[in-house]
Amino acid sequence: MTIERTLSIVKPDAVAKNVIGKIYDRFESAGLKVVAAKMKQLSRAEAEGFYAVHAARPFFNDLVNFMISGPVMIQALEGEGAILKNRDLMGATNPKEAAAGTIRADFADSIDANAVHGSDSAENAAIEIAYFFASSEVYSR
Ligand code: PPS
Repeated sequence: MTIERTLSIVKPDAVAKNVIGKIYDRFESAGLKVVAAKMKQLSRAEAEGFYAVHAARPFFNDLVNFMISGPVMIQALEGEGAILKNRDLMGATNPKEAAAGTIRADFADSIDANAVHGSDSAENAAIEIAYFFASSEVYSR
């Protein structure tokens, strides 16, 4: 297994529920390190740009409107197999289908408000980390 980085977002629903720390504990307990972090209110243009790959999907406007409904907590995570490990920690996109003990099963309410985002590939992780962080803001450790 190689050391990877992945981009994670604690979405507005989970920030509003005050569970940022509980979600960070899941990352750290699984051996992932937070190597960059910022809280941010996304503009519409930033959210549309981040999710541009989904622009043709029927839920695109709902997704963008949700992601700008309040501040998000954005972090880069680093560790062995970080991309898949984070996806496993998150659980299925639809919290109703998420395995017990996953972040979405425990903290998400719906497929719209599903608590967290995580990169789905190494290629996208690099693009997504660079979307939010300058290389000087990522502290490999
Ligand atoms: S994924 O994670 O790319 O495999 O999931 P996918 O099903 O392709 O969904 C892509 C992102 O869109 C969000 N999504 C939705 N938002 C609003 N309404 C509906 N119905 C909906 N379905 C999917 C989903 O949470 C994914 O967001 P991110 O931030 O990538 O997890």
